[in-house]
Formats: sequence, structure tokens, C-alpha cells
Amino acid sequence: MYYKKRKIKKKAIVALAIFLLLIALIITIIKLYSHYTSNEYKLSKIGYNEKEISTLLKADSKVLTKALDNKYDEHLIPLTNEKYFLWKNYKTYKQYITELTKETTDIDYQDVVTKVNVKRNYDYYTHTKKTDMDQNEAILVNKYYALPDKYAPEDIVDVSNWYAFEGIKTRQIVYDAFKEMFNAAKEDGITLIINSGYRTYEAQSKVYEEYKEAYGEEYADNYAARPDYSEHQSGLALDIITYGASGETFETTEAFKWLQDNADKYGFILRYPKDKEDITGYKYESWHYRYLGKELAKKVKKSGLTYDEYYAYYLDKD
Ligand code: DAL
Ligand code: ZN
Repeated sequence: MYYKKRKIKKKAIVALAIFLLLIALIITIIKLYSHYTSNEYKLSKIGYNEKEISTLLKADSKVLTKALDNKYDEHLIPLTNEKYFLWKNYKTYKQYITELTKETTDIDYQDVVTKVNVKRNYDYYTHTKKTDMDQNEAILVNKYYALPDKYAPEDIVDVSNWYAFEGIKTRQIVYDAFKEMFNAAKEDGITLIINSGYRTYEAQSKVYEEYKEAYGEEYADNYAARPDYSEHQSGLALDIITYGASGETFETTEAFKWLQDNADKYGFILRYPKDKEDITGYKYESWHYRYLGKELAKKVKKSGLTYDEYYAYYLDKD
């Protein structure tokens, strides 16, 4: 009787031990399974280091998916961290980086994103296309975005000598906005004068060719747009100065300061700012203002971006 009891007890202990072992085995299998199927493990297998993995696990799901579905890419994290990163340009950013690494190992990702967004990874007047005229006064016109062939706007009007030098024309919407700005400046004791407005295809050709003949093509391209690539031909740009100033001295005037503070409220932006030559493609022009409409001009100014960058990031539908 006593032996039988002991035997049963022994059996129960063995069964319990087997049961516990089985449980431990199942837990281990589950743990191993979840480890080998985790994103963390997959990323480490692809080649990402601990720091990169922790960044990727916290990143937007598109970034994580891109990392998981492709081979190791050292540029993925720094590129997608950039504020103005665009997925549609991802391949081109990498191609541009490959070109840059022939010269340097020091990659400035912010610069890469900016340049590719505005097509500056290509030479000027290459990879050009017709600008999207459906954008109306928000159209982008630069060395990559052309107006329709020999474009001429329909609502061109003469500007009174009260506001401009002799023979200046512009688009009606631009004229109305300028008059409002002119009156506001006048109230602050500032006189604005339009020095140049709408230029026909022929007039723009003449401006460009004169620069080219006098100083050569490179110089001409820094200061004047080729016909069909000028904001003046779009009728949406005005060169503004004040009495006693030329284009060169305009930036030292009170009128320039006033425009810096107020032009956006009337729908205008300084189109070719200082230190942005490599983005806009033009030397600093303190006198060249682009009409965008009040709402957009305020947004562009607030962004601190050139219009080329702003358009690429916020408006380009391609
Ligand atoms: N000066 C500006 C860039 C133009 O010619 O349109
Ligand atoms: Zn101009």
C-alpha cells in the first residue's frame, strides 16, 4: 500500500516536470520565432546598426518598409530626415549623391535635397519642360520651367507714368496689386517706381542677346533669362526702384527696406535673394519682384524658401 502511494507520487512529479519542460520549450520556441521574425532582426540582417535600427523602428512606416524591402542604404535615414525630402525624388537624390561622392565623402543632405528638388543637379536649360499654366499666377518660371512658346499674356495694360517710367506694361492683376502697394508705401513716405514690367518674347530676346554680346553667355545667363524662360515675359514680374536709386544701389534705400517688410502683404516676393544664386540661377536682384497673390506671397515669405524650392515642395503636381 505504502509503495503504491510512493509510486503514484513519483509518477506525478515526473509528469509535472515533463509538463514544465514542455512549457519552457514552447516559450523558448515562441521567443525565438518572434526574434527571427522581428523587424529588428531583419534590419540587422540587412546591415543596419543598432542606432539606425532604433531610428528606423521609430520612423514613418514608409521609411521602415523601404528599409525592410531593400538592401542596406546608408542614405535612407539622413535623406528622409530632411524637412523637404520628397519620395518622388528618392532615386535622383541617390544618383546625385553617387556623382558627388566622386569628389567628396562629405555629403550635405540638406543641400542634396534642395538641389534635386529644384533640378539643380542638372545643368541650367537642360531637362527643361513647359510650366504648368493651370497654376495661374503661381506658375514657376525659371531655367528649367518654360513658358509656352512665345507666350504673351492676354490682360496686358499700360502703366501710368504716376507709377512707372515711360512705356511700362504689366498684367492687370499685377497692376492692381502694385497700385495698392504703391499707395501704402506712399503713406509711409516711400515712393516706389516700376523700372521694368512685361517684356514680350522679342524684348526679352533683345535683353538677353545684348548681355551676351557685351559680356558673353555665362555672364548673360547670370543676369538675364532667355526668352520663354523669363518672369518678365509672364507679365508677373516687376523691377521696382525708387527715385535717386539704380538697380545696384536700390538695396541701400528705405524703399527696399519697406518692400522687405511689406511686399508680401500686397502679393509680391523678392524673387532672386542674396546668397541663393545657386538655387534661383540668378545673381541677387534687390529690384526684381514676382507677383504671386497675397495668400501665396505671405506663405512663401514665411517659409524662408526661394520660390523655386517652395514650388517644388508644395505646388508641383508632377
Ligand atoms: N533679370 C531676370 C532674371 C530676367 O531677365 O527675367
Ligand atoms: Zn526683373
